[in-house]
Amino acid sequence: MKDYPIYLLPDKFDIDEKIKSEILKDYKRFGDEGLPDNVEGYILEKYKIDLTAEYGPFTIKNPFGKSSGQLSCNINQVKADLEGGIGFVVLKTVIAQDESQHSNMAEWTVKAPKMVVEEIFSKKGQKGYTITWKGRGWDKSFQDYLKFMEEALSLSKSSNIPVIPSCKYHLPNPGEVYDEKEYRFTTKSLLSVWQRIMGNVPMALEQDFSPTLSGSDRNTDQQNIIDWLINVPLNVKKWCRKGEIVLGLKLMNALYDDEFQVQMLKTITSAGCDADYAITFNRLFDPNKVFEGKKGVAYGGWDLSDRNLRVLSAFRAWQYESGTVKKDFSLSATGNINSGRLMVEYGLRGCCNGQIHTYFQLPQKNYRARAGTRVQKALHELYFNPVNGLILTMEWLRDKKGIHSENGLIRWQDIYTFYKKQNIFKFF
Ligand SMILES: Cc1cc2nc3c(=O)[nH]c(=O)nc-3n(C[C@H](O)[C@H](O)[C@H](O)COP(=O)(O)O)c2cc1C
Repeated sequence: MKDYPIYLLPDKFDIDEKIKSEILKDYKRFGDEGLPDNVEGYILEKYKIDLTAEYGPFTIKNPFGKSSGQLSCNINQVKADLEGGIGFVVLKTVIAQDESQHSNMAEWTVKAPKMVVEEIFSKKGQKGYTITWKGRGWDKSFQDYLKFMEEALSLSKSSNIPVIPSCKYHLPNPGEVYDEKEYRFTTKSLLSVWQRIMGNVPMALEQDFSPTLSGSDRNTDQQNIIDWLINVPLNVKKWCRKGEIVLGLKLMNALYDDEFQVQMLKTITSAGCDADYAITFNRLFDPNKVFEGKKGVAYGGWDLSDRNLRVLSAFRAWQYESGTVKKDFSLSATGNINSGRLMVEYGLRGCCNGQIHTYFQLPQKNYRARAGTRVQKALHELYFNPVNGLILTMEWLRDKKGIHSENGLIRWQDIYTFYKKQNIFKFF
């Protein structure tokens, strides 16, 4: 497969010195004082930058979300994030089961308290971070998850910030049947909690195809993965009325080449797949690394974002060539989003938001802000960093690339829809 660009943006952003110094002033000020209450309103008014974004069926106030994982598995974490300025929160992945508590994927309910934040060098030699851990899905009971979800949704409703459940349904080996009882019970249970709190609002739900599938005894040959992508949505949606569930597939980075990753994207955007949106792509998997006596762990860092961006480029390039680029299918980014610049790289490939785990977990020295939670400190960098923050990057896109609407306003939405208007590989 042809090599597609990983980065479209230049190494340095040359923008007006006056604007640069305003960004620096804000960076220092909010680093000391903490972010303003309505930071999106502040950025809109001062910089004429509109951060409004989308997640699945929802409009969100900014593109930065907390991805499913260890940072969204209790109500205090969710509450702090909603209060701290996050755009949306995806809850930890629960493992599907039937009414008698039987689960085909029970090996994913591993309890693993030890989690290590480590530096990691990519193949290209870039230093980043990865979280090493041998756990998997939600490790308490399914009933506990429903209770957690209900509490989290109540906070979501009062704050008007989406909170999204995540699930790992039965993924059969070739020739095995989909466990209908698990699909039915899990889907109906999640939906009933959702509707009790959210009424008629459709339930967004992520299905997690995790990297750990590659280290399990599940058959992850290419055809089987493709079969899952087609059949999981059918089996979930069988148990709800049309429109009640908006299903997002969180795609795995399988242990195959980029071409297969593109094939997954072609599959889920084809008429034969009933998924509504996708999250691209969950972490990489190292089958040889040993941690706490377990061989085979997931990892991230720059290799993850390099791969994801390369694959998304290849997919968009294929869409340009095949004339399918106008087709609507919403993508959410995940993988090493550690700056506004990187968020924009994903945005230019049509990702309308970004889901973050690792960057919300780094050692303190990585954030300038001293006050607030990790998420607030991270958001401060993501927006205001004077070298690679979102405001600086968007100012450059407006100033040097002319991306804006009639009145000079640049919207986050202008970025993630841009690929439909222009061939990004010719434009940059
Ligand atoms: C410790 C840990 C636990 C995770 N657990 C889940 C999970 O339960 N469900 C899921 O969909 N993704 C899970 N992920 C993947 C993250 O949600 C995220 O998509 C991935 O780490 C890439 O983003 P990052 O580079 O910002 O970490 C987990 C990641 C980490 C590091």
